[in-house]
Amino acid sequence: MSEIKPYRDSAAGKKEQIATMFDRIAPKYDFLNHTLSLGIDKYWRRRAIRLISAESPETILDVATGTGDFAIAALKSGAKRVTGIDISKEMVAAGVAKIAKLGLQDRIVLLTGDSEKIQFPDESFDVATVAFGVRNFEQLGKGLDELFRVIKSGGLLCVLEFSKPRNPVVRFFYNFYANRVMPRIGRMVSGDPAAYTYLPESVEGFPDGEKFITFMRDSGFGEIREYRLTFGIATIYIGKKVKG
Ligand SMILES: C[S@@+](CC[C@H](N)C(=O)[O-])C[C@H]1O[C@@H](n2cnc3c(N)ncnc32)[C@H](O)[C@@H]1O
Repeated sequence: MSEIKPYRDSAAGKKEQIATMFDRIAPKYDFLNHTLSLGIDKYWRRRAIRLISAESPETILDVATGTGDFAIAALKSGAKRVTGIDISKEMVAAGVAKIAKLGLQDRIVLLTGDSEKIQFPDESFDVATVAFGVRNFEQLGKGLDELFRVIKSGGLLCVLEFSKPRNPVVRFFYNFYANRVMPRIGRMVSGDPAAYTYLPESVEGFPDGEKFITFMRDSGFGEIREYRLTFGIATIYIGKKVKG
């Protein structure tokens, strides 16, 4: 199996390589995700959903939905309908099967789709969410512009993403876990040598904190709030499509 390093390659090929990588790890994704995060991701997702619940959204678009975990969690906000899109066909297929098994197919629909060219008309959704997805976008600004376009005026964007811990001691242990432990377990379970090397590299290269907030502002979002979680290992960003 050839090694894929999407983050190092030219921007032109990044999207296809990301899709191929997620297609490969799709059957093991849920297991690896919850194991490697030691289950903390479930708490982070719940926290993000509580923050959007205050808006009582009826319709939610979950971009980079993967196998649909965030779309499923998003139902807790009281939303009537959640639509998820992802560029990886295999991640979507795994998600569709999971949703059918849970009997949620009337409330959650997963489709293939690209964050940088979202297939829905302007102002289609009350809230848009992205969990652990923006880091993978080929063109972050374009993805955020598209999210802004499809959210209704007054609606929210909620992004949950890994970030770099600021405390040097936490950072040391985090880097050791992310660079030494995670890739080994990821490689053993998924059989993909690149997938879990890519993860720490992409977190390191991602413009988190104030830099990401600047990207959100540039796309038009206002009233931006930032919640750092678990020593800053992950961050929730909430922005509003402020009424013009
Ligand atoms: C780490 S997974 C996160 C999946 C899910 N949101 C979760 O919380 O488990 C990242 C997902 O982003 C998707 N992705 C990457 N670039 C994308 C793009 N431009 N448009 C849509 N999905 C994308 C990948 O295919 C992958 O399924």
